[in-house]
Amino acid sequence: MKKVKKAVIPAAGFGTRFLPATKAMAKEMLPIVDKPTIQFIVEEAIESGIEDILIVTGKSKRPIEDHFDSNIELETNLRDKGKDDLLKLVQETTGIRIHFVRQSYPLGLGHAVLQAKAFVGDEPFVVMLGDDLMKDEVPLTRQLIEGYERTYASTIAVMEVPHEETSKYGIIDPDNQLEEGLLNVRRFVEKPKPEDAPSNYAIIGRYLLTPEIFEILENQEAGAGGEIQLTDAIDTLNKTQRVFAKNFKGQRFDVGDKFGFLATSITYGLQHPEMKDKLKDYIIALGESLEQTEK
Ligand code: UTP
Repeated sequence: MKKVKKAVIPAAGFGTRFLPATKAMAKEMLPIVDKPTIQFIVEEAIESGIEDILIVTGKSKRPIEDHFDSNIELETNLRDKGKDDLLKLVQETTGIRIHFVRQSYPLGLGHAVLQAKAFVGDEPFVVMLGDDLMKDEVPLTRQLIEGYERTYASTIAVMEVPHEETSKYGIIDPDNQLEEGLLNVRRFVEKPKPEDAPSNYAIIGRYLLTPEIFEILENQEAGAGGEIQLTDAIDTLNKTQRVFAKNFKGQRFDVGDKFGFLATSITYGLQHPEMKDKLKDYIIALGESLEQTEK
């Protein structure tokens, strides 16, 4: 069995839900307190045993490449001023095996993943969406890899969402359970209307895929929203190989959505060593003043 050692992080989308902030800036670089979203994702990959990471970038995404490179001027400045703690923080993102490829036209998530074909070769790999943060005791990517080590099958992370929100997600038609939390799937459907949705289990931003997905993606026509959809390719893959759904029980944060970004910042801020006490006091005071105004 080939080990899962490679991760692909698509980060080339327009980020239209976050305009105007994303007009000239990558949403994957939006900071959660003091760390860009994409750095959390890279950390999850490393904690899960991933050795090589490919980030799919596009226009306005140059800062992502710079963030994972050295910054000699800044490092010299911090060293000269004896700011060793800051120097350590700045150097944390260098020395990781990160590669980049450009998606010249953002034709959809499936098309972004297709850009990773040469990087991945004939190995199983994970796809980690650049704007989706997951919190759990064991990183979700590690959970998917552990599942693969038992099933040797593609496995897609899912989570229950309110029924009226199915049209925002890829949705699965679940079948029986192979084991606790691991479901067989009849169909994968992209963005169904609530009345057509086969369940409320939504695909979230972590996928473990076998390399056969590339041949399918190469012939994949545009689907929902005129985009080449990864969900459609996974549905085709499921017809020739078993594809499982892993029911994720942790917390998911959609940083690409304005409300999701605020909620993520507050949740992570409440755990940040420098911020947590100050932020907690602020939220309590805010709650009290809101209560007063409502009276
Ligand atoms: P999203 O649908 O959340 O990204 O895709 P988007 O298209 O940028 O966002 P909105 O809906 O317009 O606000 C999930 C991830 O896939 C990447 C995005 O960068 C994001 O991290 N993606 C999406 C690509 O890399 N290429 C694409 O063509 C589409």
